[in-house]
Amino acid sequence: MITRYLVKPGNALKGRFPVPGDKSISHRSVILGALAENVTEVEGLLEGEDVLATIAAFRAMGVQMEGPVNGYLRIHGVGLHGLKAPQVPLDCGNSGTAMRLLSGVLAGQAFASTLVGDSSLQKRPMGRVLKPLTAMGADIQSQDGKAPLHIHGKPLQGLHYEMPVASAQVKSAVLLAGLYARGKTCVTEPAPTRDHSERMLKGFGYAVSRQENRACLEGGGQLTGQRIQVPGDISSAAFFLLGASITPGSDLLLEGVGINPTRTGIIEILTRMGARIDLTALREIGGEPVADIRVRYAPLQGIEVPPHLVPLAIDEFPALFIAAACAKTPTTISGAEELRVKESDRIAVMAAGLRALGVAVEEQPDGAVITPSTLCGGQVDSHGDHRIAMAFAMAGQVASGDVEILDCANVATSFPGFPALARQAGLRLEVLNA
Ligand code: S3P
Repeated sequence: MITRYLVKPGNALKGRFPVPGDKSISHRSVILGALAENVTEVEGLLEGEDVLATIAAFRAMGVQMEGPVNGYLRIHGVGLHGLKAPQVPLDCGNSGTAMRLLSGVLAGQAFASTLVGDSSLQKRPMGRVLKPLTAMGADIQSQDGKAPLHIHGKPLQGLHYEMPVASAQVKSAVLLAGLYARGKTCVTEPAPTRDHSERMLKGFGYAVSRQENRACLEGGGQLTGQRIQVPGDISSAAFFLLGASITPGSDLLLEGVGINPTRTGIIEILTRMGARIDLTALREIGGEPVADIRVRYAPLQGIEVPPHLVPLAIDEFPALFIAAACAKTPTTISGAEELRVKESDRIAVMAAGLRALGVAVEEQPDGAVITPSTLCGGQVDSHGDHRIAMAFAMAGQVASGDVEILDCANVATSFPGFPALARQAGLRLEVLNA
C-alpha cells in the first residue's frame, strides 16, 4: 500500500488524551515475558507493527500468547531454555530493536535461526551487535554486517564490553546474551542510554547491578513472570509536543507519558528553546516514572543543542528539526551522526524535506544548521520513515500552503492511530491510499 498524507494549514491543537504504549518497553515486555517462568500479563502494549514482529518471532519459537487485544497481551513464558527452533526465518520488518535484541537472545540458544528485515532494516549496521556477541562466543553469519543474520546458537562466555556508540539496543543485546553466558557480563556506555532493559530485568526478579556508566549481570539465573503496565511513549508524545509548541493558541494534555530520565531529552531541548511544557500527576508505574504533560503554544528560539542531550532525545530529532525551522533564530545540531543510521538517514531526509518547504538547512556529517523561515506548502518524501512522516504532518499545521508527505505507511510501525489522534487534536490531515 502506498500511503500519503495531505495536511492543510490549521488552527490551534486542543484536547487531552493518552498516547500509545512505549515501543521500547513493549518489545522488552514481550521478550522477557517469553523467557520468564509462568505467565506475564502486559497492559498498554503498543500494537504497532514493530512490536507485532517481536510477538510473531516468539510465537514461531513456540511461545503461546493470547492477544494483543486493546493493549492486553498474556504471555505463557517458556523459561530461558524453553524456546523451540523456528521453522521459518524470523521477520523483524522495519524494527532495529527487534533485530538487535533478538540477536542477543538467539546467540546462546541450542538451535539455529535466521533474522530478516525489510529494505530499510537490511541497510542498517548490525556489526555493532555482532562484534560483542562474537566476542562472547556467538556464531553469527552476515554479509558486511547487514541482515539477514544467520545465527548458530552456541554456549557463551560473559564479557566486559565498552560500547563505542551510545546505543541501548547494543547494550540490551549484550545483556540479553549475558543471561545465557557463563559468568558475568558487563556493558559500559559512553553516555547514558535508555535503561528499560535493566529496569525490566529487575522487575522480573533478575539481579542487575549498576555502577556509574556500567550495567552488569550474571548468567544462569531465571526470570519470573510479571504484570506489566506499559507507559505512554514519549517518542510518540513528541509529535504533539511539537505541534502544540509551534501552533498559536494550542493547549494539549498528554496523559500517562513515560518520563524516564534517559528519554526526556525532547522536553529539555524544547524547554531550552522556550517551549511551555509542564509535567503534572507524577507517579511511578511498573518501575518507570510517568506524568501527564501539558503543552501550550510558545514562541521558540533557536539554540545550540548540547551534544550530551542527543542520546536522550535520539528518536526525537525529526520533531526537533521542525521545531528549529519554526523558531525565531537558527539552531545547530551536532554530535548526532547516529541519526544517519536510523530508519532512514534522518539528517539527509529532514534537510531535503525542509528545503522542499523553503527552509535553509546546512547539512553536516553529525548534524545540521537550520535557519528558520515561514514554511511554504510543498511535497516531502519521508522515505518510509515513520517519525519523519509524523514530524512533517505537524509542520503542515503551520505551513502557508498544503503539505503532501509521501511514503507514510510505516507510521503503523510505531503509532498506528496517529492520523486519527492527530485529527482529534485538530490537525487537518487526510490519509490518501493508493
Ligand atoms: C531503542 C534504542 C535506540 C532508539 C530506538 C529504540 C531501544 O536505538 O533509536 O528507536 O528500544 O533500545 P539505538 O540503540 O540504535 O540508539
